[in-house]
Amino acid sequence: MIRAFRSDENILDASDNRLKQIATQIHKEGVAVFYDQQFTESQIISLQKRFGECESPDLFMNPKEYPELFLVTGKRDKEGKKIGMFGDTELGWHSNGNSRHLIDKILISLYCITEDINTTLSVCHTSKPFYDLSKDEQEYWKSINIRLKFQNNTIYDLEEGDPELEFMSKNKGSIRKLVDQHPHTGEYYFYFPYHFIIKAWEDKTPIDHEKMIERLKPIIFRSKYQYHHIFKKGDLLMMDQFTSLHRRTPVLDNNRLLWRLASDFSKIYNA
Ligand SMILES: [Fe+2]
Repeated sequence: MIRAFRSDENILDASDNRLKQIATQIHKEGVAVFYDQQFTESQIISLQKRFGECESPDLFMNPKEYPELFLVTGKRDKEGKKIGMFGDTELGWHSNGNSRHLIDKILISLYCITEDINTTLSVCHTSKPFYDLSKDEQEYWKSINIRLKFQNNTIYDLEEGDPELEFMSKNKGSIRKLVDQHPHTGEYYFYFPYHFIIKAWEDKTPIDHEKMIERLKPIIFRSKYQYHHIFKKGDLLMMDQFTSLHRRTPVLDNNRLLWRLASDFSKIYNA
């Protein structure tokens, strides 16, 4: 069962030791939520940097003066151009960096500036389902390799000419194990962003990846492994991108705005 860690402590006051405990909670439960937080842009960036190195790709959704922030919104500017990422549509199950070769920025933070109470973020634990299987099943799934690549019109639909489509399509994808070990805990987890899986092998023998996906869905996406969140202003939600997958229902109010940051955990364990 998922037990999302929740707290109303002011995370800005957390000592290094406290942040280490929080990092461990995030690895273990996949998700941690902190209510009524008040951050400026610089404060949330400094907080994320206490955990590790941040992504700052300097794309259209990164404010020039705060390159580590990503605006997540369906809002558009006067010319109708997107100012944030992920738009307003439904998003299928995924985690950060699914189409990339190297995935190291596995801590995602989402901080709510403007809420839309009609939109739900769901998080599914991907490690607990593995440990609930028999030894034989575990061994079978450990023998599977998968090929991943972003394909449009799967987790979401992007139109030709959309700047998000351009950078998503640039990624070459990767081949990796379906079941891998978490770099910080050593726990096994399923890497199952199934919209990105385009091939699969049992050891080196090709198998039908679509059948494999349909077999795994009911194993992983059980309600007991899921946590659902409706963002209220001031909520900070942090997720481990190996221990969990997430999805989102459509946004009805385009004023919804989240700040998103992505980092690794390279600093917190040496602090
Ligand atoms: Fe996401």
